[in-house]
Amino acid sequence: PMNRRIKDLMSRMTLAEKIGQMTQLDRSVTTFEIMRDFSIGSVLSGGGSVPKMQATPEDWIDMVDNFQNGSLSSRLGIPMIYGIDALHGHNNVYKATIFPHNIALGCTRDAELVRKIGEATALEVRATGINYAFAPCIAVCRDPRWGRCYESYSEDPKIVQEMTSIILGLQGKGPKKGVPFVGGKKRVAACSKHYVGDGGTTRGINENNTVIDWHGLLSIHMPGYFNAIINGVSTVMVSYSSLNGVKMHANRFLITDFLKNTLKFRGFVISDWGGIDKITTPPGANYTYSVLEGINAGIDMIMVPMNYTLFIDTLTTLVENKFVSMSRINDAVWRILRVKFTMGLFENPMADKNLIDELGAQAHRDLAREAVRKSLVLLKNGQDADPPMLPLPKNATKILVAGTHADNLGYQCGGWTITWQGLSGNNLTTGTTILEAISDAVDPITEVVFSKDPDSDWVEAQNFTYAIVAVGEHPYAETAGDSLNLTIASPGEYVIDNVCGKVKCAVIIVAGRPVVIEPQLTNIDALVAAFLPGTEGGGVADVLFGDYGFTGKLSRTWFKTVDQLPMNVGDAHYDPLFPFGFGLTTDPIDTN
Ligand code: IFM
Repeated sequence: PMNRRIKDLMSRMTLAEKIGQMTQLDRSVTTFEIMRDFSIGSVLSGGGSVPKMQATPEDWIDMVDNFQNGSLSSRLGIPMIYGIDALHGHNNVYKATIFPHNIALGCTRDAELVRKIGEATALEVRATGINYAFAPCIAVCRDPRWGRCYESYSEDPKIVQEMTSIILGLQGKGPKKGVPFVGGKKRVAACSKHYVGDGGTTRGINENNTVIDWHGLLSIHMPGYFNAIINGVSTVMVSYSSLNGVKMHANRFLITDFLKNTLKFRGFVISDWGGIDKITTPPGANYTYSVLEGINAGIDMIMVPMNYTLFIDTLTTLVENKFVSMSRINDAVWRILRVKFTMGLFENPMADKNLIDELGAQAHRDLAREAVRKSLVLLKNGQDADPPMLPLPKNATKILVAGTHADNLGYQCGGWTITWQGLSGNNLTTGTTILEAISDAVDPITEVVFSKDPDSDWVEAQNFTYAIVAVGEHPYAETAGDSLNLTIASPGEYVIDNVCGKVKCAVIIVAGRPVVIEPQLTNIDALVAAFLPGTEGGGVADVLFGDYGFTGKLSRTWFKTVDQLPMNVGDAHYDPLFPFGFGLTTDPIDTN
């Protein structure tokens, strides 16, 4: 019956209405009238344009429902789908639960936990009237110099495959494997991205070229897609990167022949933000050429995202002059409508205001806290001759908490949190910093002294029982995060030097990837990789103080020096500081 509904609808659609469905606009250029008059298929809040004034779920709902009403007022009333980068929870709303970024989730090795995170994320996204998440990123990051490394679950394709369980949480589990499915009003359409080889670019340069043979592509970058398709993912986003010199947005073989025809992917393929505009070969190629190549490669929905009249006019001309066939347009529209019917969008196009309380719900915060404690990786625990430093006693007389990252929720969350590049500071309305979590965990008699960058004489004079130092990277996203030196942000090294060696110290790294730490390692008594844990700092205190044991295992190789990069498990000259899969364990302290 669904196929019949699609067929019937398509038989009544004009070319303009079909092209409208293939068009995705950024919310900043969208109006009720544009949605209605152009039969626009989709809207997004792109990373760079998440509206700050949409601070409350009610504001989001008003905006999204207004666009939806525009769509429903179009001639055929086809509902639109609204997409957003909900990458580690619904990271676009102040009240939301922010889960650890993927690099940390990979350290849990817990696919069921990650499925539950998908379920909670879907509820929080729906609470703001949005029904489509540009997640999960199933990149296999092979070089931590890449600015998107934290969005990758692992350097190991098997872990990435396992973590596609998040799709079953975001969308729900369908009755038939391999068939796109979205289970109603509490789920959202998911998007596996960025197809394919995004994590394999030379020197980790974002949007660059991945040089790899067919065997390498199939065994490293493709396995995540096999599982995403089996799990019924509704959409796949194409990568900005090139593969062996060919822009993925123009790669007809990989999009049409392989993804659609060989792998039988039945959802729709979406471009990245202005992705087809970047198809610039051969020299002198213009926008018409880009649209022609992108559509004929098999991209179904175009994240235009601004100049919709130019896109619509260009594609219309290409179809009228038979450079793009009607069957190509029909394939795209069929896929888009199929996802919309599957989601129940025609029956339930509007936001469900009953879901508002799901945003930042306690159950989701508890889940995020569990994810934090399961993702922390203990890399060192005590100097050789000494007993282990962790877990720490809660009843010390006086402890020092130091470092730029100890009391900064924005740093804890990293990029893609409220703003595209992330926040600096505690301007999220909800959440617990590491400092707050430590203060909550210790006995009331323990004095907790906080200093961002103490000098060594002061530290020595204070008689601390022990110190906890949190340092790392400042937030970034996409190309802004590309880095060749991978050092911790200043004055991180200075703080470690001033504290460690003077007082027993545990160092917590809050960063989107492994960083240079070898020079300091001998002075550090205990070392913990927290990566980007999100809003629930309580999870850090849970394991530091032994309410739970450390269980996390590195989802990627920790290098000694950047000259070693790229270096991945299985490589010929594998000489890491901490190997892939490494992680010490502790037992929880029995409080009975
Ligand atoms: O989903 C993202 C993608 O990962 C990078 N470019 C922009 C898209 C939409 O914000």
